[in-house]
Amino acid sequence: MSLNKSLLFALFVLLATVGFNGAERVRFDNYRLYKANAENAEQLAVLKQLEGSSDSILFLDGVHLVGADVQMVVAPHKVPDVLEILGKAEIKYELQSKDFQKSLDEIDEKVAPKGRASSDYNWAQYYELDDTYSWMVSLAKMYPHVVTLIEGGKTYQGRSILGVKISKSLSEKPGILLEAGIHAREWIAPAAATFIINQLLTSNLDSVKDLADNYNWYVFPHANPDGYVYTHTTNRMWRKTRTPYGSCFGADPNRNWDFHWNEVGASSDPCSDTYAGPSAFSEIETLSLSNYIASIKDKIQLYVSFHSYSQYLLYPYGHTSDLPDNVKDFQQVFNASIAAVSQRYNTKYTGGNIYDAIYPAAGASIDWAYGTQGVRMTFCYELRPTSNSILTGFKLPAEQIIPASEEVLDSITAMVGEVKKLKYFD
Ligand SMILES: *[C@@H]1O[C@H](CO)[C@@H](O)[C@H](O)[C@H]1NC(C)=O
Ligand SMILES: [Zn+2]
Repeated sequence: MSLNKSLLFALFVLLATVGFNGAERVRFDNYRLYKANAENAEQLAVLKQLEGSSDSILFLDGVHLVGADVQMVVAPHKVPDVLEILGKAEIKYELQSKDFQKSLDEIDEKVAPKGRASSDYNWAQYYELDDTYSWMVSLAKMYPHVVTLIEGGKTYQGRSILGVKISKSLSEKPGILLEAGIHAREWIAPAAATFIINQLLTSNLDSVKDLADNYNWYVFPHANPDGYVYTHTTNRMWRKTRTPYGSCFGADPNRNWDFHWNEVGASSDPCSDTYAGPSAFSEIETLSLSNYIASIKDKIQLYVSFHSYSQYLLYPYGHTSDLPDNVKDFQQVFNASIAAVSQRYNTKYTGGNIYDAIYPAAGASIDWAYGTQGVRMTFCYELRPTSNSILTGFKLPAEQIIPASEEVLDSITAMVGEVKKLKYFD
């Protein structure tokens, strides 16, 4: 090839790659969804080996424990291989769906048309990143003495991790930090965070006005903006950041925080959905957000993180079954918070310390905030739907955004009341 031709060829490859990354939507037509269960350590090792072995095999919630179900989405051409491997290892499995795409398509999420006016922003639908950011910018204009835009850092692709600080007066007040959307596909998390922002600014209820009046709120609806954009443009099931690692992309930003990093419940394989990253805080998202949090840590007395799904409320730790020294207080706040979440719609939450309530998982944001920043009350909500919703758990129908958000605001109201009783707010 002449120099010109090879340049053209390089340009073509570049464009093709960009085109593929940017435009072509990943579909799961005829992908099978299997539920499998490892009965012993050998079988678990086989499943772990499958995880990350191919981008045609997707484990919806990783591979964690002997005896726990795992959800595997398998491309049609991989089905014979996978079934042979499962058969050889005598791993029990069950077909849950013959067409994962069809199962996903049955859930109507309703995404607001791009560029819709911020004055129309509402919770009957989901939003793209730019539209939520425009709405947040409009709030700072509409409530100039109350809402301040804050930046929790940057993303790999150069986006801003935009947040709002809501502060009704200049006097010192306890700070509550709410971080959502660190896992890209968990769309209800940022939607519930923006719902809460709106309630804090507009509600006439005394209980909500108390929250707005007596605390400074730092809310980041999108802790993983690149991943969220990618779930809209390309792959609805994307979880991680978008940092390139060899032939794969992204680290799990909730396995990447610098506290007992990668000790357990995370993967060292860049293709895995729970890849911890090459090092603690390898991701600019977690590094820069953590720097922001560290800069205000003395003001933050309650840290709440939103994920989905399973209807759990969790507290530290994820890396060990050892309980935090103030576990009695955590349990008391937990009890009040899950009682309140069920009051409005009878929605049942369970949970406890991460390690025992779900599975070992090191490197989560709430563990880092608790373990290194001296924030004594840190919680993680796994929002609707229930853990049984294995087909479509990450897609919550749009008409559930409001009830799911209302009940979690009820819960946070109770949480704040209980944390106040325990005198953590000083
Ligand atoms: C929380 O609730 C559980 C179950 O009802 C109860 O056993 C426990 O004592 C409660 N813990 C605290 C600290 O209130
Ligand atoms: Zn999550």
